[in-house]
Amino acid sequence: MCGIVGYIGTQTASEILMAGLEKLEYRGYDSAGLATVFDHQIYSIRAKGKLYNLRNKLAQIDMPAPIGIGHTRWATHGKPEEHNAHPHFDSQQRVAVVQNGIIENYRELKDALKAKGHTFTSETDTEVIPHLIEEVLADPRAQRPFTPSPLFDAVHQVVNRLKGAFAIAVISADHPNEIVIARQGAAPLCIGFGQGEFFCASDTPALVSHTQAVLHLESHEIARLTHLGVEIYSFAGERLNKIPRILEVSASLVDKHTFKHFMLKEIHEQPGVVRDCLQAYLRSDWELEPALAKTDALHPAPISSGQSPIQLGLDAALYDNLAQVQIFACGTSWHASLIGKYLLEQLADLPTVVQYASEARYAPAPWRPNTLTIGVTQSGETADTLAALTMELQRSQREAAQSPVRLLGITNRSESSLGQLVPNLIDTRAGLEVGVAATKTFVTQLIAFYLLALDLAWKRRTLPQDRIQEIINGLRQLPGKIELILNTQGEKIEEFAREFNETQDFIFLGRGINFPIALEGALKLKEISYIHAEGYPAGEMKHGPIALLDEKVPVVAIATPGSVYEKVLSNAQEAKARDARLIGITPKEFSAETDIFDDLLPVPLVEELLSPILNVIPLQLLSYYIAAHRGLDVDQPRNLAKSVTVE
Ligand code: M6R
Repeated sequence: MCGIVGYIGTQTASEILMAGLEKLEYRGYDSAGLATVFDHQIYSIRAKGKLYNLRNKLAQIDMPAPIGIGHTRWATHGKPEEHNAHPHFDSQQRVAVVQNGIIENYRELKDALKAKGHTFTSETDTEVIPHLIEEVLADPRAQRPFTPSPLFDAVHQVVNRLKGAFAIAVISADHPNEIVIARQGAAPLCIGFGQGEFFCASDTPALVSHTQAVLHLESHEIARLTHLGVEIYSFAGERLNKIPRILEVSASLVDKHTFKHFMLKEIHEQPGVVRDCLQAYLRSDWELEPALAKTDALHPAPISSGQSPIQLGLDAALYDNLAQVQIFACGTSWHASLIGKYLLEQLADLPTVVQYASEARYAPAPWRPNTLTIGVTQSGETADTLAALTMELQRSQREAAQSPVRLLGITNRSESSLGQLVPNLIDTRAGLEVGVAATKTFVTQLIAFYLLALDLAWKRRTLPQDRIQEIINGLRQLPGKIELILNTQGEKIEEFAREFNETQDFIFLGRGINFPIALEGALKLKEISYIHAEGYPAGEMKHGPIALLDEKVPVVAIATPGSVYEKVLSNAQEAKARDARLIGITPKEFSAETDIFDDLLPVPLVEELLSPILNVIPLQLLSYYIAAHRGLDVDQPRNLAKSVTVE
């Protein structure tokens, strides 16, 4: 959480920093600030609330400097007030610092600094950093020869005293031609290389309108940006030779186009991203071997020894003698993982456990050999998921020095911290997602799980070939069917959503492979509309939650023809008998059987196994329009941030 930016060059820094912060506002939007150095003075503005408050302040003053740093905050230590907004300063206002992360040992550092006479003006953990830098700069005995600059030396000494995961950028009035940046742990920071100008930012969208040449700083690296270039060192003091890479992402991706919100745009991008993802990973030249294709119920097709129809590009050793799978994830990625569990168990016959990363890291399951561990995180930066994976990596290295470390990441940001941590990745290829509510990245995470489960089914010989082909054919038809929902249901759901302007509670019911879709429907509604919502396995309602129901509580039931269809309808009847308004997510073809529903949000008919990808679409639209009609900030809901990079 929190976004940081920095600029050194020849243009007006404040404008570039402001534009960069606008691209990073998804990381936090409680308060924001800028600091620049001009004529050996630090100039700074800070404002509580959204970035436009800072922009309004900036419009009233002149900040002509060609060097500066900026920050958009998601509060951890200290309320979202102006005095807690970054940048923070030393006692003399000669050093300014922005930080993303948490300084875990800030209390003891602050006490020691106070004892030396430093006074603090905020409740933040960050403020200790400029004061510590001030201490080193003020003490000639503390300074070391042969370092690139005194400011670099001071920051270098200070970061070695900080505990926690953080990314910082530092400027100084007395060293006006450099920015020093550093990273420790899971707090991303990248450097942009322009023509005679250099940038830093928490994420690449803040850089792409200036340069495509970008380098990601790794943990325990520190860099000095000057007008002449960039020098990078390890915290241990070793000079590093690193080469930027050229980004593929273009500036237009970070644009709403004609949509009112990023979330709506991203919902509408789903047919395209599902299509692209399938195209990237399914072999176009693959065909069912004719001799193997003929099956009947008693004689399923034998399994071919030929090539899998899926090309995920993973190490073969990942699959060898696999006994089970464990998955770590949070939020929407956790919901996708629950569907992944269903697929891995039902298609590939692999026992699978899904854990909240935030829980697993403090109570790991007993270590077992031959376990594939999967971390699912769209951003690749979620601190809990990265920590759980790191713990697992260390355990595997300790317990099984001879066998391969079986770690796989599923992410939408292959260049993220996750990409650096795990040796194998499935990139969900959905393009940058800006809206805080995950939509297109969720459906592409599901596609990744379908493909992984099918590839494993192929290699483990748990499904006949023709069944694999049938599922693949079904997957290929999904983009068209999502398009159909968007084209035929979008406006109807927009209108329908008005009926819930005053609603305070919602219940979502699903079973089997669609239970996680009920959870996801409830999460989408909660996070953007602030309506209390619960997702429940339909069969569990009678064990307690049914007590919540009355005519004021709408119940959305996901009723997909298949293994639990009649059960869900019976559970829905039970809710209706308690006066709940019943909304059905179900295929139109079955509306006669489903006349129990007060309202229908129809979806095209597909086999139950593939239905989650269609069932989630009307739920995304419903949440979106309920929140939009209430006039809420859909893309930046209160208290949230897109990447949760703190514990
Ligand atoms: O980037 P990640 O997938 O690791 O994020 C996990 C959750 O923070 C995220 O899914 C969150 O729940 C979303 N806001 C849901 O829409």
